[in-house]
Amino acid sequence: MRLVSLTMLMPDMVLAKSIYYRDCLVLKEGTSDLERYTNSLKRLGIDYLYIEDAKSYGIEIPDAISEETRLMCKQVLRQTIEEFSTRAVIDIQEMSAAVNSIIDEILANPDVQISLNDIGATDEYTFTHSVSTTVYSLIIATKLGYTRSMLEKLGTGALLHDMGKILLDNKVINKAGKLDENEFEHVKKHTVLGYEALKRCVNLTELSRIISLYHHERMDGQGYPTGTPAAQLHEFTRIVAIADVYDALVSDRCYRKKWSSNQAVNYLVEHTETQFDLQLVSVLIKQIAIYPNGSMVRMSDHTIGIIKEQNKNFPLRPFVRIVADGWGNEITPYEIDMMKVLSITIIESELEMSWDSQSGSYETV
Ligand SMILES: [Fe+2]
Repeated sequence: MRLVSLTMLMPDMVLAKSIYYRDCLVLKEGTSDLERYTNSLKRLGIDYLYIEDAKSYGIEIPDAISEETRLMCKQVLRQTIEEFSTRAVIDIQEMSAAVNSIIDEILANPDVQISLNDIGATDEYTFTHSVSTTVYSLIIATKLGYTRSMLEKLGTGALLHDMGKILLDNKVINKAGKLDENEFEHVKKHTVLGYEALKRCVNLTELSRIISLYHHERMDGQGYPTGTPAAQLHEFTRIVAIADVYDALVSDRCYRKKWSSNQAVNYLVEHTETQFDLQLVSVLIKQIAIYPNGSMVRMSDHTIGIIKEQNKNFPLRPFVRIVADGWGNEITPYEIDMMKVLSITIIESELEMSWDSQSGSYETV
């Protein structure tokens, strides 16, 4: 299995993971002849697909939680938000069940690894992002040895952290370009608005609520809405701040293409102490696959490969299936264990490559 952009679909590719839009199945796993769905998927704001082809056959992409749990959590969050906008109530029981399913799966898999990010339609971003932020937050917290009760409080607050966005102007939230000063001031309000909304939910604990209020505060006190140095705030808010930014960076946004895991990790590391808590960043990045399975890479001998499997404890030296030579020409695939071929390194990661039928070679997009 591997992840490809819609612009790179080829006739031999078969859909490896079903596509959902607003909780409805739109394209089932196993669907072939994918190019004919390109325009419909584009209209839905879906830009990437998990596919299976001869080159990626047998490669598995692990996910921290199951597809069913992800879908269920998105569904519960959507219902919660819809119910909140019509009746101003939040069903904490359903929310709690969703969070507990994530906790169960993370606890059952102590070697959990953060691989390629969840994909979803552009207008579904808040749901996809909130679930992924919750998963990353809970991964950090389980590594810190949090109790079940604290995991539940953190998870519920993380799932609702951007709740205030539903009270903002949609045009600003989905704006494709850079926000002007007024628009940015408007977006900042989602923290206070979210917290005020959650205060009306009596079954929610204050520890869950403050995540919404403080998840944009920074270590240097340059964040918003209060400018409080994050070290003075509850650890929950510092955990979600990191998970929130990591997920945003590795997601495709209307104004920017997604970053590779490698770039996002570098960003977190470069901004420790100014934005993020160093100790918490180091906990998260130990769980991130720098070169995720199923992603395309360029090697130092210029051959092109697909990451096949991780080498435990050596994230920079995975197993790679080499599929093209230095000129991008397809070759009979062969696999290398980078722990045994120490002269070769990876020089570019998460490449997006398309097949140029005229030259008969792969080209970087
Ligand atoms: Fe936010």
